[in-house]
Amino acid sequence: MHPRYAVFGQPIAHSLSPRIHAAFGEQSGIAVDYRAIESSREEFALALDAFARDGGRGANVTLPLKEDALAACGSLSERARRCGSVNTLIREGAAWRGDSTDGVGLLRDLSLRHAFYPRGKRILLLGAGGAARATAFAFADSGAGELVIANRTRARARGIADAIGNAARVHSCDLSDLEATAAFDLIINATAAGHGESTLDLPHAMVGSETLCYDLSYAKAARMFLDWSRIAGATRVSDGLGMLVEQAAESFACWHGVRPDTTPVYAELRAHFAALL
Ligand code: ATR
Repeated sequence: MHPRYAVFGQPIAHSLSPRIHAAFGEQSGIAVDYRAIESSREEFALALDAFARDGGRGANVTLPLKEDALAACGSLSERARRCGSVNTLIREGAAWRGDSTDGVGLLRDLSLRHAFYPRGKRILLLGAGGAARATAFAFADSGAGELVIANRTRARARGIADAIGNAARVHSCDLSDLEATAAFDLIINATAAGHGESTLDLPHAMVGSETLCYDLSYAKAARMFLDWSRIAGATRVSDGLGMLVEQAAESFACWHGVRPDTTPVYAELRAHFAALL
């Protein structure tokens, strides 16, 4: 049967993943059938079964289906098990294997496009949802000197810090308790505040002239945090478009055994958004 790939989510019409995977396929000489499939949480299990029967060999899963994806897996990769998050499904026999490519995608974008390496660095992570969780494990596992996880609901931040279990280096706090201490090397926004009309009221002194301020979202959703960062004095700011392309490349490698060149695909998307914004 013709192998099929897809991204599941709701809403999903504006997903860039079909475009990214088509570009990777063209570059690698692999005919990739990758589509966006709209599914609610209630429909997801049945939709995923139907997809498998129809030749589905791999899928990405985005909001609001990440927890459901974890539940649908018969097995997990070591990194997905450790961070308790799944964004990539791989068909193995009659079951799905879950993997998490978000953390490695972020680390690759940080090193490739921002020459940022977490080892020994002071990192502030804003947010404690699914996206923050994979990110926190990636930083802890790559030797961050200090990781502060700050969230509106402190208990969720504490939950991630406890799961990592490195009390000497990984701390949690309430967003409103962040104090103007020494500047961080990296501040990541993993909250959904920029998706609506909300703003983040944070001390400017956390940003120094060398601080990299990075939002995991892209396009309009990243604007609020990046504007705040510039006002606070940041000269190095980035949205998460590069992470999106890098996590997709990692999923592509899981499915097809080929690592695509992300540089031209990223450049094309960056030009697209520069023209739009
Ligand atoms: P995702 O999987 O994208 O991370 P999520 O699990 O819904 O989505 O998490 C959203 C994150 O954004 C959470 O950390 C949430 O804080 P709470 O845990 O307190 O809900 C945070 N968030 C959402 N809206 C926010 C706002 N207006 N200000 C600050 N944090 C916000």
